[in-house]
Amino acid sequence: MGLLDGLLDRSIFFSFDGSGFRRHSRDFDHRDLDPSMGGKVCIVTGANSGLGLEVARGLAAGGATVHMLCRNPERGEQARQAVADEHDTSGVHLHVVDLSSQSSIRRFAERFEASRVDVLVHNAGLLPLEREITKEGLELTVATHLVGPFLLTQLLRNKLHGARVIFVSSGGMYGKRLDVDTMMANDGPYDGVAAYAMTKRGQVVISEMLAEELAGLGATVNAMHPGWAATKGVEHSLPRFWKLMRNRLRTPAEGADTALWLAVAEKVAGESGKFWFDRRAVSTHLMSRTMENHTERLRLWEICSSFSNSAPKEGE
Ligand SMILES: NC(=O)c1ccc[n+]([C@@H]2O[C@H](COP(=O)([O-])OP(=O)(O)OC[C@H]3O[C@@H](n4cnc5c(N)ncnc54)[C@H](OP(=O)(O)O)[C@@H]3O)[C@@H](O)[C@H]2O)c1
Repeated sequence: MGLLDGLLDRSIFFSFDGSGFRRHSRDFDHRDLDPSMGGKVCIVTGANSGLGLEVARGLAAGGATVHMLCRNPERGEQARQAVADEHDTSGVHLHVVDLSSQSSIRRFAERFEASRVDVLVHNAGLLPLEREITKEGLELTVATHLVGPFLLTQLLRNKLHGARVIFVSSGGMYGKRLDVDTMMANDGPYDGVAAYAMTKRGQVVISEMLAEELAGLGATVNAMHPGWAATKGVEHSLPRFWKLMRNRLRTPAEGADTALWLAVAEKVAGESGKFWFDRRAVSTHLMSRTMENHTERLRLWEICSSFSNSAPKEGE
């Protein structure tokens, strides 16, 4: 990397924005996305818009069978139809699943008939403007970004031999240290940006821990961040940022590029437990103050596990 590239990357702004993608992609080998995905079974959560839709498109383009997990039936079906039409394939399926709901995830896992999963992309995400507590008693970002994906991974565990599991985290997590008590608090002042960043930090930690857990299955687990891409999520949740930055943002396909690359590129087949940005493994911390200790990591694991171990409640 040249001196100028190094300086631009350190600025964050000229790294996360569209110019950062154009600069970084000069080093990409575009053949990396070519491998045939024919016969592969892929799951993408939050697949009806933004980055998730682009990942689903890319996987379908490679010939994979794609299972799109979306919470809204109409938006989901519209997206499924669009992907199926674009690639003239019947191998694109919609499952209505709310990733913030353990009962919805359990219902999906019970009915999901594929005998194996080759790619599992945990993409569903949101930045709430106000605190929302799910029916199951969890703050919405904890439920959607951590407990839901962890549960889905564990319920599909027997199908994940040799799979690639990918978490779509966020560069916003760089500003936050994992603090499980703050993250799990359901009262007191609420800051949606902070909750989002903390749970995105949590996704990076949990992906590292799952990488160890699933190594015995030959599965890999990685997290990535997309930089700043123009999606409805950003427009809705960060209107001021959107107004200032909309012309500088990456396209959704550019934001999704590294997630898709982690799903298909042959050169990353054995990579696991890393954090990626623009097809490069990058540090998970930019400041020492954000480093969590071992106890905090274990507490996060125990919390996520506690929901996976518990039997579904009556009526679920
Ligand atoms: N765009 C960026 O610059 C950026 C930066 C950093 C990280 N990310 C991450 O990228 C991922 C995708 O976001 P995006 O920017 O593409 O925004 P988006 O267009 O709003 O996509 C988010 C997707 O997640 C779905 N979703 C949210 N909650 C869900 C739930 N409980 N169950 C099922 N699906 C749910 C949304 O469904 P609905 O359509 O029903 O709402 C939507 O399909 C998120 O994890 C986000 O944190 C994005």
